Amino acid sequence: MENFSFVNPVKIIFGKGTIKKIANEIPPGSKVLITYGGGSIKKNGVYEQVVEALKGFETYEFSGIEPNPHYETCMKAVALIKEKGIDFLLSVGGGSVLDATKFIAAAVCFEGGDPWKILSEDSPVTKALPLGDIITLPATGSEMNNGGVITRVETQDKLSFASPLTYPKFSVLDPTTTYSMPPRQIGNGVVDAFVHVMEQYLTYNEGDSLIQDNMAEAIVKTLVEEGPKALVTPEDYDVRANLMWASTWALNGWIGCGVPQDWATHMIGHEITAFYGLDHGQTLAVVLPGIMTVLKEQKGKKITRLGKNVFGIEGDNAIERTIKAVENFFESVGVKTHLGDYGLGDEAIDKVVNRLAERGWKLGECHNITADTVREILILRK
Ligand code: NZQ
Ligand code: ZN
Repeated sequence: MENFSFVNPVKIIFGKGTIKKIANEIPPGSKVLITYGGGSIKKNGVYEQVVEALKGFETYEFSGIEPNPHYETCMKAVALIKEKGIDFLLSVGGGSVLDATKFIAAAVCFEGGDPWKILSEDSPVTKALPLGDIITLPATGSEMNNGGVITRVETQDKLSFASPLTYPKFSVLDPTTTYSMPPRQIGNGVVDAFVHVMEQYLTYNEGDSLIQDNMAEAIVKTLVEEGPKALVTPEDYDVRANLMWASTWALNGWIGCGVPQDWATHMIGHEITAFYGLDHGQTLAVVLPGIMTVLKEQKGKKITRLGKNVFGIEGDNAIERTIKAVENFFESVGVKTHLGDYGLGDEAIDKVVNRLAERGWKLGECHNITADTVREILILRK
C-alpha cells in the first residue's frame, strides 16, 4: 500500500422519514436554492417533504437539470444565485442533480474567468457555496464524495472535477425515495456502483490491501445479491437500504485508500455518453468486460479472486468464466453489454478512439491503455 491520508467530512442521515431533518442542518437565516431535475421528485412525494421541511427558510427553486448535467444549464443557476443572493444549495434528486449542484457551488464563487476551466484546465476551486443533498437514486456515490461530472453540449465534452470544498455538508439517504425509480435506472445504478468498486479493486495489486479488498467484495456481493431483487420487489425497504448504502460505499473513498486505481472504464464511457447520449451505467456495462479481457494478464490475480469470492467460480478457465459472469450479471439487471445493443458500431468506435487519441491519455492503473488499446477493447464489445 502507498502512503495515504483519508478525510470524509460528509454527515450521512440515513433512514425512512429523514428528509425532515434537513432543517437542523442548514444554517438559520440561509437563502436556500432547491435544485432538481425533470420532475421525478414531484411525482414521488419527495418535493412536498422538502417544502415542508424548509418552511422556516427563504427558498428558491431551479429545476430542469438533465441527466449527464449540462454546463450551459448550470450557468443559468449561477446567474439566479447571484441575482437573489442565495447562500445555501440543496440538491434533490439523482447523481446528475448533485454533480450539477457541486459545480454550481464552485462556479458561483470562481474568480478565474470562465468556470468551465474548473473542468477543462483543472483550475483549482478556492471557494464554494455550502451544499447539502437528498439523494434519490443510488448509483454514483456523489452523496459522499467531492466529485462531479459535467457535459458541455457545445463541444461534446464530458469532464470531471473534484475539490475538498465541494463535499456535501450532509446527505439524506432515505431508501423509500428510491421506490419510484424506473427499472432502467435501477439497473444503471447497480452497474455504476459495481464498476466503481472494480475501478479500485480490479488492478494488478494484491497482498497488502486485504482490508480494502474484503470491503470491496462485501460491496459487490451486496449488489449481486440485492440488485436483481429491486427489479422484482421495488418496495422492499431492506433491499433498497442495502443497495443505497452499497452505492455510497462504492465511491466514498474508503476502498480506494492507498491502492492503485484504474478508472479507464469510466473515461472511455464518458466519451461514449458525450457523443451518443448513452446512460452512464450503459457505457460501463459495455466497456468493463472488454477491459477485463484485454488486460486479463495484468489483472488476472484479482479477476480470479473476484470469481472465487463473489461468483463462486474456480477451476479451468476461471478468468474467462468470471468475465462472462460479470457480463451476465449486468444483463440480469437489464443493462445491455454490447455497442450493437445501442445501435453503435465501427463509426462510433472510430469517433471515441480518435477523441482519446486527441486527448493523449494513457489510461488504467499502469497507464498502458492508449487509444489503440481502446480500439481493441471496443472491437470486442461490438
Ligand atoms: O430528472 P428527474 O426527473 O429527477 O429524473 C431522474 C433522471 O431522469 C430519474 N430519477 C432519479 N431519482 C429517481 C428518478 N426517477 C424516479 N424516482 C427516483 N427516485 O433518473 C434519471 C437519471 O438520473 P441521474 O441523476 O442522471 O442518474 P445517476 O444518479 O445515475 O447520475 C448519473 C450522472 O452521475 C455521473 C455520471 O457521469 C452521470 O452524469 N457520475 C458521478 C459520479 C460522482 N459524482 O462521483 C461518479 C460516477 O461515476 C458518475 O460518473
Ligand atoms: Zn460511475
